[in-house]
Amino acid sequence: MSNLTFTMVKPEAVEAGNAGAILNKIEKSGFRIVALKKVLLTKERAGEFYEVHKERPFYAELVDYMSSGPIIAALLEKDNAVLDFRELIGATDPSVAAKGTIRAEFAESKAKNAVHGSDSDDNANIEADFHFTNGERF
Ligand code: CMP
Repeated sequence: MSNLTFTMVKPEAVEAGNAGAILNKIEKSGFRIVALKKVLLTKERAGEFYEVHKERPFYAELVDYMSSGPIIAALLEKDNAVLDFRELIGATDPSVAAKGTIRAEFAESKAKNAVHGSDSDDNANIEADFHFTNGERF
């Protein structure tokens, strides 16, 4: 069990002005922000980040979407971070996400689902290293 997880507030949520409310909910739920940045991913960088989904039918759509506008990337710390954060954000599909979760409140659809959350400790570390140097973590 690690105490770190990685998240991105996705382009539609940033565009809608929901980033502050989402980050507030994350902090109020006991996560400490270790690192934070707003960045526009190129198609190449978005494709690299989601490389594990390369064979999925939605990969091209996902890459286009994630490079369509700036995202806010954050590294978060809390005991049991990966699982607790996945519970906080809710199911991928907002129509089945539990009430009170970030996706139930802010997501538009399965593709435009407001936030990303790491699915394992290993991926949390890989995703954190993708976005943040050690000097950007506090
Ligand atoms: P995320 O948690 O960032 O991890 C993979 C992403 O792929 C997921 O959130 C969704 O944004 C996207 N995704 C998953 N399933 C679908 C789908 N059926 N159609 C479009 N996008 C999807």
